[in-house]
Amino acid sequence: MSEKTSWERFFNAHAPDYMDNVFTKNTLREVDFLLEELALQPGSSILDVGCGTGRHSIELAKRGYEVTGLDLSAKMLAQAEKGAKAAGVKVNWIRGDATRFSLDEKYDAAICLCEGSLGLLGQTDDPIDQPLAILRNISRSLKPQAKVLLTVLNGAAMIRKYTNDDVKEGTFDPLQMVESTAVSPREGLPAIAVRERAFVPTELTLMCRLAGMSVISLWGGTAGNWGRRALDLDEIEIMIVARKTAESAEVER
Ligand SMILES: C[S@@+](CC[C@H](N)C(=O)[O-])C[C@H]1O[C@@H](n2cnc3c(N)ncnc32)[C@H](O)[C@@H]1O
Repeated sequence: MSEKTSWERFFNAHAPDYMDNVFTKNTLREVDFLLEELALQPGSSILDVGCGTGRHSIELAKRGYEVTGLDLSAKMLAQAEKGAKAAGVKVNWIRGDATRFSLDEKYDAAICLCEGSLGLLGQTDDPIDQPLAILRNISRSLKPQAKVLLTVLNGAAMIRKYTNDDVKEGTFDPLQMVESTAVSPREGLPAIAVRERAFVPTELTLMCRLAGMSVISLWGGTAGNWGRRALDLDEIEIMIVARKTAESAEVER
């Protein structure tokens, strides 16, 4: 598979440095939190979409869960494989695109954390179709009533961060809720143009519904500061806990 999106190119180059990011330093607490929310039986199966270097997948496997980690970036997955080997655990790593995967297994729960694909738009991705496709694929991979925990960028914070000048310059598109920037994946490497999508709670509720899931909780979910609290307008990320409700006709589209 050649690199399809700018994010795949970005994460392939960023992979060796990914675990140096400050926001990756709270994995144990995040896993404690998500296990409390998902309330799973021991040994349950969990799908980690956009698993990256597998920091959550590996910790979940250490705690006895059957984990599948799916990611677009071969280099992030290579780091994940190394981590699992070092930890002495088995995780089923799959290289795949969250917008178009289909797995035979049905899982007891799914996670998609820290913009693990949700909101990471390719240069030509539609800002509605892309996240909806991911949510539908996640929903299709779940057993009935299974729960999902997701974190995505907070639209309110994105709106408050930008000005009308940023809109004129094309850095922020308020009609699509898309930020267009260029980021260097590693010191010394040229910046890569990327697009990131933020969300407002109402559309997340609607998108989950269209994907056959119903939202249970919407909280502030910034990495390093997960908690069961009302969403702060300036908070970087939103957390969504939802439950698969139905195999509706919409889900199958
Ligand atoms: C910010 S990292 C988050 C990784 C991990 N969930 C965590 O919390 O550390 C985003 C990950 O999403 C992956 N990704 C981006 N677009 C994707 C897509 N369409 N399908 C699958 N993975 C994708 C990237 O390769 C990267 O590993």
